[in-house]
Amino acid sequence: MFKTNGLLVSLEGIDGCGKSTQFELLQARLTELGLPLIAVREPGGTAVGEGIRQILLQASYSLTTEAEMLLYLAARAELCKQTILPSLRENKIVLCDRFVDSTQAYQGYGSGLDLNWIKQLNWQVTGGRLPDLTFVLNLPVEEAVKRRSNSLDRLEMRDLNYHRRVQQGYLKIACQEPERVEVLDATMTKENLFTNLWRKLQPFLNCIIK
Ligand SMILES: Nc1ncnc2c1ncn2[C@@H]1O[C@H](COP(=O)(O)OP(=O)(O)OP(=O)(O)O)[C@@H](O)[C@H]1O
Ligand SMILES: [Mg+2]
Repeated sequence: MFKTNGLLVSLEGIDGCGKSTQFELLQARLTELGLPLIAVREPGGTAVGEGIRQILLQASYSLTTEAEMLLYLAARAELCKQTILPSLRENKIVLCDRFVDSTQAYQGYGSGLDLNWIKQLNWQVTGGRLPDLTFVLNLPVEEAVKRRSNSLDRLEMRDLNYHRRVQQGYLKIACQEPERVEVLDATMTKENLFTNLWRKLQPFLNCIIK
């Protein structure tokens, strides 16, 4: 579990499940403890990545699924090379609001692109470095819709069945990689959810605190 440098942690789950809320709580706790931390969100985090984010979120574009997936991967390639991999080499904690599993869940399970193709591309752009720990925040699609704001962007406007496939996709990923992926019940209050998340993360922090 502690073979590589640094600690790569990702937060995953359908839109509105509470990732960014937990991301902020986690960022605050780790900072309080004085641990070396880089926090990134996908897509984005680099100049090119933020540009790609704008393209992806604009409701007026109708992109093919292939182009959409490749744009996510292009943004990830930039982020990995510029920020994530160098930070891990410096033995930092890298916290990602979405990462490789989002592409599998959304463009793979949700939109039907070949899962192995996505896996290969992910492998290449990340230099084969998977997260050490991934939290999937598990929330029924209906609950997530209720939590989201009224202004839905292009990605959020897709139908409920699409989001159900994404949700199921996340659970399949967790079944395939139980060592890496931890599914958390996201129906609870944000405080209780954070308590559970923190409990699971703590053993992994040993590799940073030397
Ligand atoms: N545990 C919780 N219980 C109830 N509401 C929550 C909880 N966590 C977050 N929320 C609320 O749900 C909404 C969505 O949360 P958040 O933005 O963290 O989700 P997200 O997974 O980051 O969404 P997106 O994928 O769209 O970025 C926010 O209004 C947030 O305040
Ligand atoms: Mg968010």
